[in-house]
Formats: sequence, structure tokens, C-alpha cells
Amino acid sequence: MLSLGASIGLFGGSFDPFHNGHLEIVEAAVKAFPSDKILLMPVGQPPHKSRRLSFSTFRVETARLATEHLPQVIVSKREILSPGRNYTVDTIESLLQEYPGIKIKLISGSDFLFTVEEWSRYEKLMSLASFAIALRGDADLGESKQQADYLQKRYNAAIEFFPMKSTTVSATQVREILWAGASASQLLPENVDNLVKLYRPYSYKKVIEDIDESSWQKLNSIERRLFEYLGTERRLHTVSTCLLALELAAIHNVPALEAGTAALLHDLAKELSGGEQLAYSNDCLNIEERNPVLCHGPAAAYLAEEQFEVRSEDVLNAIQYHTTGRPGMSTLEKIIFLADKIEYGRPFKDLDEIRKLAFAEGLTASDKKIYLDRAVCRCYEEVFAALDRSGHEICPLSKEAYNILK
Ligand SMILES: [Fe+2]
Ligand SMILES: [Fe+2]
Repeated sequence: MLSLGASIGLFGGSFDPFHNGHLEIVEAAVKAFPSDKILLMPVGQPPHKSRRLSFSTFRVETARLATEHLPQVIVSKREILSPGRNYTVDTIESLLQEYPGIKIKLISGSDFLFTVEEWSRYEKLMSLASFAIALRGDADLGESKQQADYLQKRYNAAIEFFPMKSTTVSATQVREILWAGASASQLLPENVDNLVKLYRPYSYKKVIEDIDESSWQKLNSIERRLFEYLGTERRLHTVSTCLLALELAAIHNVPALEAGTAALLHDLAKELSGGEQLAYSNDCLNIEERNPVLCHGPAAAYLAEEQFEVRSEDVLNAIQYHTTGRPGMSTLEKIIFLADKIEYGRPFKDLDEIRKLAFAEGLTASDKKIYLDRAVCRCYEEVFAALDRSGHEICPLSKEAYNILK
């Protein structure tokens, strides 16, 4: 349990991504309330049906990176990890239950004053928390104070104002720039900009929009559970692998749910101890028993079946063989093998050539298959060269698969 002190400021949002406008509100709140901890609360599932949000791993990480220079600020995963839709009033009730007597200020822009009566259980909300409203210069002072007077009289709401810079940035504006493939450096904190440039989460707009609703919901609920299993770096690699796998699945006619599930779970066992990985990978081959690096695939397949109720043989095989590949790989297995190695966070050179082959844009179905196989071959060549440089043995399964495909 975190130590939060007597009073906190709570600032929630989608943070998709966390941008300079969010940062200005938080910095102004830190200045206005120096003795309070400020809790940033990225939403898990918004109260109302909305556009599809980026994976929570990216949104949480943009909030954390943007505020890492502010020791009073804590990024909370409370809403991300809670089941169902998130209502602010429920979040506040759960905080009060866990930290009895704590005073909660809900931090917001002035638009909150005009929409609060549409929020879930808003009278309860106003009785449980006070409101700290960031004012941009004098522009919205008059109307905001008038509305605050009304809320104070009608609901006994406790409202205070604090000043912030008058610049305005909206996440919609930022996303539109990123969706168009342009740079939003002017609107993002530098380390958020670097994260977005490296992993390119906003380059998958169409891929995400084309997934059916039920599959998208299932993938998101798996992704939220990964916080229990994997640290930040590996989750970033995992969601980046997932987005690339979804793109390849759309090109090569593999169901999005299968590709997304296999990608999200492929490294599930990677942070377990060597002993645990071995224990979970009973069925793995001798070569894998000799090499602990290769055990995490079979171990992840075991966990995917036991703890995530994955029943598809193809998905389980794609997880099991994601590191080595094997002779006779299915299209899904090839996609996961590739996506794991060529996602945008990977630091190796020469990956663009393999990506281009895998994307096989504009080709007929049979040509696409040839290009996918070529991409797998080129990927093997890079992997073999890297193993050779580091003095490691090549897994016989990989050698055999390569010899068949080349
Ligand atoms: Fe792996
Ligand atoms: Fe991986």
C-alpha cells in the first residue's frame, strides 16, 4: 500500500498520450498544493463507449515518463486493474476505503464544472471529494466562478481554483498529428515523444479500427492482466509485438484475436525464475532443457492454457515456438516468430528489409505466402549471425525450419 499522506490531488484521464497540456495542469497543481501527493489515474475502461484507446501499457508509461521529474506525483494503476467500466465516484470510494480519512481533491480543467451534473452519482461525488480547478489565465474566470457558485449553493460542493499557463493542447489534436505520421514533438514532453517515436503505437489506427469489438475487448482484458506478470520494458515489447502481429494478421488473413492473444502471451513466463520456467515447460525438447533462454516459450504456452484459458492449438504452438520456430510452422506461428523479433522497439539494424517482406503489400495471396517465408528466412539469418557472434549454439529446430524454407 502506498503512503499518501493526509490529502491528495487526483487527476484522471485517458492520457492517450499524456501531453504538454496534462503536464502543465500537473505542474501547476504541484505548485499550488505542495504538501499533497498527486495521483495520476489513467482510465482502464472509460464510463461511456468511446473510440478505442491505446493499450494501457503505453498510456501508463507516457504519464510516468512525463512526470518522473516530479517526486510528489504517483501514477496509479487502480482503474486499469479494476474490472468493468471506471467511474470516478467508485475510484474515490475505493481510495477512501483503503485510506480512511484521506482528503481527496479532484483536479480538473474548468470544463468539469459545466459537465459534472452528467457524471455518474455526481451528488455523491461532490460529497466525497473537493474540486481543484485549473484556470487558464483570466479567459474563463468569470463564467467558471459563476458556475462554481451555483454548484456550491445547490450541492454544497467545495471548489477552489489554481492558476496554470494559458496554452491549450488537446489529445485529439496530438493523435491526429500522430495518426497522419507527422511529428508531435512540440506538444509532447521529450521522453513521451521519444517513446511514441520508438514504438509508433499511433501508426496502427486502421489495424485497430478493423478488429471486431468482442476481439478488441478480449485483447484489452488480456493486456491489462499483463501488469501482474511483466515489468514495464517487457510489457512495452509485448504490446509492440502485439500491434505488429495484428498488422501482419490482417495482411495474411489470420484472425486478429488469435494473433493478438499469442503475441500478448508469448513472453508471459519470461520473468519467472529459471526453475519455474523449467517446471512449467515439462513437454519441451531436450535442446530447450539444455538452454534456459528457450524454456520461456513452452512455459508461457503452459501458463496461457492454465491461467488465460487459451484452447487454440495454433495459438499455443505460436507461443511455445516463438523463439526458435520449427519445421512446418503455421502462418500464425510465422507471424508471432517474426513480430517478436522485428517490432519497432528492437534495436537491431537491417530489420526494415525483413518488415517490408513481411508486409508484402499489394501482392496476391500466393505471393504473400512466399514473401512471409522469405521474411522468416531473412530473420533466421540475422538470428543465426547474432548467435554466432555471441558464441551460442543454434537450436536444431531453427536450423531444420530454415533449411526447409530457404
Ligand atoms: Fe521470448
Ligand atoms: Fe518477445
